Amino acid sequence: PDAAPATGCPAATAGRPPAPDLFTWEFAADPYPAYAWLRTHAPVHRTALPSGVEAWLVTRYTDARQALADARLSKNPVHHSESAHGKGKVGIPGERSANLMTHLLNIDPPDHTRLRRLVSKAFTPRRVAEFAPRVQQLADDLIDGFAGRGEADLIHEFAFPLPIYAICDLLGVPREDQDDFRDWAGMMIRHGGGPRGGVARSVKKMRTYLAELIHRKRENPGEDLISGLIRASDHGEHLTENEAAAMAFILLFAGFETTVNLIGNGTYALLRHPAQRELLQGALAAGDTGLLTTGIEELLRYDGPVELATWRFATQELTLGGQRIAAGDPVLVVLAAADRDPARFADPDVLDLTRRDNPHLGYGHGIHYCLGAPLARLEGQTALATLLRRLPDLRLGADPDALRWRGGLIMRGLRSLPVEFTPER
Ligand code: HEM
Repeated sequence: PDAAPATGCPAATAGRPPAPDLFTWEFAADPYPAYAWLRTHAPVHRTALPSGVEAWLVTRYTDARQALADARLSKNPVHHSESAHGKGKVGIPGERSANLMTHLLNIDPPDHTRLRRLVSKAFTPRRVAEFAPRVQQLADDLIDGFAGRGEADLIHEFAFPLPIYAICDLLGVPREDQDDFRDWAGMMIRHGGGPRGGVARSVKKMRTYLAELIHRKRENPGEDLISGLIRASDHGEHLTENEAAAMAFILLFAGFETTVNLIGNGTYALLRHPAQRELLQGALAAGDTGLLTTGIEELLRYDGPVELATWRFATQELTLGGQRIAAGDPVLVVLAAADRDPARFADPDVLDLTRRDNPHLGYGHGIHYCLGAPLARLEGQTALATLLRRLPDLRLGADPDALRWRGGLIMRGLRSLPVEFTPER
């Protein structure tokens, strides 16, 4: 029988292609045909997620943008109708026990407004711009590690370590401790949807470390972001130590896997589109960085790191895209589907680095719009430009089976990206 969704789209199923299976391995490798089906036939669609939680998937651009900015959709999991017995099923594993809940992605105004204003005072575009030489050096050092070999796994050796070292440096985690973060982050990425025990332990270790670090920085402040967070004040208000720890944690958590996937998905898309890659390489060789700027935005739109925006919960009954959503229902906005909506983007399945009319939702929209976007852009642009400059004949490895997508829910990214190139001499 037609595997039409049981709920959410009661309309007649006759005459339309069968509903695709969601969250399978084939779906992880290429979710875009399934999203096209949902946009057309069930744009606000209730489904059971792999965890068993039921949620609404929102796939059209207009609905997605509206949902992201709708104050009736709360970020606070207490509004989930199942929160009493669905404990721990949404959010970051281990976060609940580790008392890191009061971070930006879990709260609403007025608390969100206060915390975001405070962190914005420390995490400024200027601080990010001053960080550019360090990101360049990190990119070059990592490439030095494999450039002489002629082959590499770009996820493990480049896309993964770059953001973790960058954010650790920015926060003020001493270099000698950064490999611990690399291990904890690796655990969190590897087992994102898997054994919760290991992830919870890593979250706990990170939390204990950050609490101690914040304590030390309070005694002995420096020029780093954690010291900035402690110092930041708004009308005489400061972050508490707990809030500062939660903030540092969410900056790490929101800032590393996303950027790993921007570099990974972005490089992969470029290697699969040789004409686009040549265009970019030509522009960079001529000293023109304009195409890099529009190109990174297009790579975010085309195959962005955040497939689904983080959880939202209806605080009251509401209608979205013609669909009634009950109070307490979870809503997941599918950024990856919205950003391929032909109603908003011309030729949405075409990668066009020169695309100018590109208001993609890759960084979200509304009050939770990505706080780290300037840093992500800096890292993404530096990483891709440096790769293409130093390894000009970079190509995908010969074994296509070695390339695997992770099957996570929120994030879309590669487990490994084997590449080959002429060794640097
Ligand atoms: C929020 C994407 C990198 C910090 C978000 C949201 C998206 C996003 C979609 C909104 C989520 C929602 O509304 O449910 C990305 C992408 C990145 C990236 C695609 C890389 C390419 C970073 C970096 C940092 C960061 C590098 C910090 C170091 C944050 C924070 C929030 C956020 C703190 C929460 C803001 C709030 O709730 O007010 N990001 N992000 N992100 N991002 Fe990013």
